[in-house]
Amino acid sequence: MSSILSSLDAAARAAFESLGFPGDIAAVRESDRGDAPYQCNGAMAAAGIAKKRGEKVNPREISVQAVSIMETDAAMGRLEIAGPGFINITPADNLLTTRAKALLDNPADGLTADTHKTIVVDYGGANVAKPMHVGHLRSAVLGEAIKRILRAQGHTVIGDVHMGDWGLQMGHLISELAEEQPNLPYFDDDFDRDYPTQAPVTMDDLARLYPQASNKAKTNPDRMEKSRVATAQLQSGRRGYRALLDHFIDVSVAALKIGYGNLGVEFDLWKGEACVDPLIPGMIEDLKASGIAEQDDGALIIRVADGEKDKIPPVMLLASSGAVLYHTTDLATLIDRKAEIDPDLIVYVVDQRQALHFEQVFRAAAKAGWYEREQMYHAGFGTMNGKDGKPFKTREGGVLRLEDLMAIMNDAASDRLKASGIGADFDEEERTEIARKVGLAALKFADLQNQRMTNYIFDPERFTAFEGKTGPYLLYAVVRIKSILRKAAEMKVEAGDILIKTDTEKALVLSLDAYARAIDLSAEKFAPHILCEHIYRVAQSFSRFYADCPILADDVPDAVKASRLSLAKAALAQLEHGLDLLAIEAPDRM
Ligand code: ARG
Repeated sequence: MSSILSSLDAAARAAFESLGFPGDIAAVRESDRGDAPYQCNGAMAAAGIAKKRGEKVNPREISVQAVSIMETDAAMGRLEIAGPGFINITPADNLLTTRAKALLDNPADGLTADTHKTIVVDYGGANVAKPMHVGHLRSAVLGEAIKRILRAQGHTVIGDVHMGDWGLQMGHLISELAEEQPNLPYFDDDFDRDYPTQAPVTMDDLARLYPQASNKAKTNPDRMEKSRVATAQLQSGRRGYRALLDHFIDVSVAALKIGYGNLGVEFDLWKGEACVDPLIPGMIEDLKASGIAEQDDGALIIRVADGEKDKIPPVMLLASSGAVLYHTTDLATLIDRKAEIDPDLIVYVVDQRQALHFEQVFRAAAKAGWYEREQMYHAGFGTMNGKDGKPFKTREGGVLRLEDLMAIMNDAASDRLKASGIGADFDEEERTEIARKVGLAALKFADLQNQRMTNYIFDPERFTAFEGKTGPYLLYAVVRIKSILRKAAEMKVEAGDILIKTDTEKALVLSLDAYARAIDLSAEKFAPHILCEHIYRVAQSFSRFYADCPILADDVPDAVKASRLSLAKAALAQLEHGLDLLAIEAPDRM
């Protein structure tokens, strides 16, 4: 069924239309005053329109007329005119009851997406061998939520990790390995048999070799040159290097799957920059032939500036050394996605500091005629900063590793649980599992509840608080309802027909009513914080309802118990559904 808000909205529009005004001016919205839950301010605009037509009516008269029509609609409960002609609207109790039942059956009832698109979400973006940094964390957390929100709308959504596996870091690894183990067959040009299937390195080796090489290269130009040459030879297809790359990727993917898995992030595609390498020569030929790519000072570029005044630099397809660049692999990936998936939309959930890069790539792809410009969207985000206001680093000042970050959150959550006496009587294993979930929820919700573009400060203490707009507060709400349901089952109280009576019951239903809208809006703006706000509100209205309306107390009549239990179930279903869209897991008890 449609939401309460849209039923009221339709009635108000119809009333204004029958008075000869455009329906749009009568849009019903949630009220910011306490008088009634909704309001319609159409009479003000209508009076303006009437005045232009040369009629003399004041807004109050129009609202009186509109109310007399609106009253006849079954959705309307109480209608009240305030001030110069604002219409305060309280929906009919009946409508609340039917709506609550629909939401009990389907917590996201009323989702409106009617065009089903195929959408690629490009997120994660970890680099092979290089440790992940907080930017990768935000991309994973935001991207996963955006993917699930779009999926909830009914779109076909494909998440691609798009690993960085084609740059200088590969040259560093190869040349460093060559120094350590020069006798490996990968470095022997005369080796013409099959290379071993077993990787010559482990993830620990990669994690050691990369910084080792990059540190040497920083101070030693000759060492840097070796890495450059190795990168160029890899990119031009040297057989042994290509085989090494495959090993490096396999080893890294296995480790990344564990890392992302621990974070509750799953990808449909584990592609990377390297896998579009075969498409690059053909792409370059086509772009040259069509005159879109041009030579400039030895490099191959695509000009993407729009007129003289636009200072956006050109896309670099090939450096003068012939090397393939970040632009090149992103463009080839667009071709690959066109051929393999033919998406309607591609959303890149990547650090805002890469905005220029994406603008350049999108313009080039549009110029080449592969996609419309609107089919590519960069959903950028700000940084997670330390207390010093700079991108968060470890105490030693290095890039933060995901595992370390998760360990910090885990510890903060354990401390918090201990301090609150939660789980004192549970066994060790369960306590550990609860701390893990609380820590993750704290981290993710703290990240997601901010508007994407804002920077925020990493504060495990605040993130793990059970009060306020935090992940743990939401988990607590879920766990509390679950325990009510368990107790009800023990007492053999069953959920039953919903009868809405008290104000806090009404407020709870109205907050549940807004869920589909929150999903739609989050999807439209790629903005999970809108969904976070909704879930937080539901948790709050549940807690007000529960404070006000005992469910299982002895003096509560059976029918009321049954009804309130149904409301509790509806709230739980929606909280769990919403948290799942944010990829946040709740424990069963705590
Ligand atoms: N690997 C890149 C980095 O670490 C992020 C990749 C983002 N996605 C993309 N299609 N460029 O900065």
